Amino acid sequence: KVGHFAIAIDGPAASGKSTLARELAQRLGLVMVNSGAMYRAVTWQVMQAGVDPENPAAVAEALEHMVLDCGVDGLDSTLTINGVDPGEALRSSEVNAHVSQVSAVPEVRRKLVELQRSYLDHSDVVMEGRDIGTAVFPETPYKIYVDADPAVRQERRCAAGEVDSVSDRDRRDSQRQTDPLRVADGARVLDNSGHTVESAVEEALVILREQGLEIPLLEP
Ligand code: CDP
Ligand code: CDP
Repeated sequence: KVGHFAIAIDGPAASGKSTLARELAQRLGLVMVNSGAMYRAVTWQVMQAGVDPENPAAVAEALEHMVLDCGVDGLDSTLTINGVDPGEALRSSEVNAHVSQVSAVPEVRRKLVELQRSYLDHSDVVMEGRDIGTAVFPETPYKIYVDADPAVRQERRCAAGEVDSVSDRDRRDSQRQTDPLRVADGARVLDNSGHTVESAVEEALVILREQGLEIPLLEP
């Protein structure tokens, strides 16, 4: 087999990217990579180190002292930062409140995009984030932009028990200079507002087939 491929799933906060990517990974036997977890890990470490997440120069300096280790465990991806798996801390209200500022720092993006691309040295992946179809894997033909009504997204996120302002993150993620959130060239938009998880997966499989992905039929 020549080379590995990526399915790129992008979209705004709480649109259902992770849920869809996880289901697709299971159905297709691919490794699922949540790129947002990498940005969250750097943000968590910035705060652990007592660095001001609003100061881009200080964040870039702190990044020099971070060792990120990204791997694979079955179809899941794994992540440690300076030897620690931050676990649930990645979804704390503090990380939610600062991750978009840290993610806007160009040095942070350069380092994480390189790590994200290196997954293709070993595996086919479903990767979800904000710039996977535009910046990480612009050449892949398999691209889906998952959207949903802002009120639906905020409600789904709160129902999951998290403290998070999805509109603040969306604004920062769409307006930053480096690789802002936008619909990639060649991406198909999947509106998740009225979908169940299962019907969203079915629509995604139809889109991927139309984009040329060979998908084995499910065993009866
Ligand atoms: O909570 P949600 O799943 O919507 O967010 P996430 O995917 O965990 O991403 C958290 C934050 O990381 C985003 O709000 C972006 O600021 C940043 N991010 C990014 O800049 N680029 C990516 N490819 C993924 C995430
Ligand atoms: O990764 P992202 O922040 O885009 O969203 P998520 O964490 O996968 O999904 C946000 C919430 O929406 C989760 O609680 C899902 O169970 C729920 N949901 C979904 O993902 N897809 C649907 N069609 C309906 C609900």
